[in-house]
Amino acid sequence: MKCIYAASLFLPLVLGADFTVGVGKDETTGKKGMGFDPSSINPQAGDTIVFEFRSGSHSAVQSSFTNPCTGNGGFDSGVQTVDNSLEVDAPGLPTVRLLVNDTQPLWFFDQAGGLCNKGAVLSVNPSATQTDAAFKANAATAPDSNPPASASGSGTSPSGSGSASASASASGTNSSAPASQTSAPSRAEHLATGGAFGFSVLALLWALL
Ligand SMILES: *[C@@H]1O[C@H](CO)[C@@H](O)[C@H](O)[C@H]1NC(C)=O
Ligand SMILES: *[C@@H]1O[C@H](CO)[C@@H](O)[C@H](O)[C@H]1NC(C)=O
Repeated sequence: MKCIYAASLFLPLVLGADFTVGVGKDETTGKKGMGFDPSSINPQAGDTIVFEFRSGSHSAVQSSFTNPCTGNGGFDSGVQTVDNSLEVDAPGLPTVRLLVNDTQPLWFFDQAGGLCNKGAVLSVNPSATQTDAAFKANAATAPDSNPPASASGSGTSPSGSGSASASASASGTNSSAPASQTSAPSRAEHLATGGAFGFSVLALLWALL
C-alpha cells in the first residue's frame, strides 16, 4: 500500500492532464445553457481543471458537499462575462485554471450564473459516500447563496434572482447556520444509506494516507 501510494506521488509530475469544463454550457444538449459540462469529473493529483466560460456572466466557486450553493472561501474564478454573440464553442473563450493536488472530493457551483438549485454544480472526485447524485440533491434543497446571508428565514426565492452579487459570499462564510439546517437531513440520509461499504472505503483511504 505504502509503495503504491509513494509511486503515485510522482505520477503527477509526468502525467498532468487538462480537464476542460464548460461553464454556462448544457451538458446534455451541448448548447449554451445552465451549469457545467461535464458536471462530474475525476481528475488525478497533478491534473488541471480548466473552466471555460460561455455567454453571459458565470463564475466557478468552490463550495461544500453539504452547502453546495455557498462559497466555502476556497477557489473562486471571479465573474467571467462573455458576449452573447459568441458561439457556444467559439475559439478564445476565457478560461481559468485550477490545479488538482489530490483526489479528495471538490465541489463547485456557478455563483454568477445562478441556478445552483437547478443543478448548476460540479462534482470533482465524488466518493462512495459523497456521490454526485447526493451533491445535486443537496443543491436542489440548498438555500440560494447569492444574496448575502442576512435574512434569517431560509429564503425560498427563485434561484438566479440574486446573481448580481456574485462575489459577495466568497469570504469564507462556510459556517452559516441557515445553510447547514437545510442540508443536514439529506446528508445524514446519504451517510446512513452509504452503510458499511462507504465506511470501509473511508477506512481504506485513511490507511493509505
Ligand atoms: C470554514 O471556515 C473556517 C473559519 O473561517 C476555516 O478555518 C475552514 O477552513 C473553512 N472550511 C472550509 C471547508 O472552507
Ligand atoms: C493546489 O495547490 C496550488 C498551489 O498551492 C493551489 O494554488 C491550488 O489552489 C490547489 N488546488 C486546490 C484544488 O486546492
